[in-house]
Amino acid sequence: MTAELSPIDKAKYVAARRAVEFVEDGMRVGLGTGSTAAWMVRCLGELVREEGMMITGVATSTRTADLAREVGVTIKTLDEVRWLDLTIDGADEYDPNLNLIKGGGGALLHEKIVATASDQMVVIADLTKQVDTLGAFPLPVEIIPFGWQTTKALIEEMLSNVDVLGRSASLRLSGTEPFKTDEGNYILDLHLRRIAQPAQVSLVLNQIPGVVENGLFLDICDVLVIGNADGTVEVRDINNGTIEHERVDVSDSDNLFDEVRD
Ligand code: A5P
Repeated sequence: MTAELSPIDKAKYVAARRAVEFVEDGMRVGLGTGSTAAWMVRCLGELVREEGMMITGVATSTRTADLAREVGVTIKTLDEVRWLDLTIDGADEYDPNLNLIKGGGGALLHEKIVATASDQMVVIADLTKQVDTLGAFPLPVEIIPFGWQTTKALIEEMLSNVDVLGRSASLRLSGTEPFKTDEGNYILDLHLRRIAQPAQVSLVLNQIPGVVENGLFLDICDVLVIGNADGTVEVRDINNGTIEHERVDVSDSDNLFDEVRD
């Protein structure tokens, strides 16, 4: 049945399917945002409905919370749960050290809070997200609406002092209006092309008044699961220093795909 999915969806699905093997009965799980994370939420729903697994999810966006409830995953707030066993989330870019750019879906603030409040972060992605050096994907920065043009100017000025190839920033739009995050904030996308020193960029960005958080996730990801359209996955564990190649059995996935098609 995976034959009916596009190659990229197959890759995302097998990454998600492999990642939920990290979830154990009774765990509190952070649920990421994006199309890859949506596959993971559907897989978790299957575990709950068909295997009776007890999972408490903390969602990183209203989109993810809605999907989780729809597929039968109990959702609580981070304040109710306080700490998580595991977070599974997608990424916009990953480098060889498993540092990430996230926030393409506009949920970076909740994603970073949730991932940081987790014993382990598992990232699910496909090979299109792989880079040697972060920065080809525009770096999202969440800023408060008050004085946003001043904040943007301060960010652009700051960028002249760091080792990046591009220095422009654009306000993310939704139609003709500024895109608003779940917190009611704006997103600036920084077109840096190459970020030679991500830790420095992250630090200086977050020192600017008006910046709430940036989309660099540094030293947060523990395990990266890369899915391929042929049904194989690569599992990189940064703490153990292991890289394993596996094939994911998707023979029992028909129900899930039927749900997506419905
Ligand atoms: C959401 O804000 C992002 O951090 C996502 O994790 C990222 O955009 C990946 O999304 P896809 O899985 O849809 O590529």
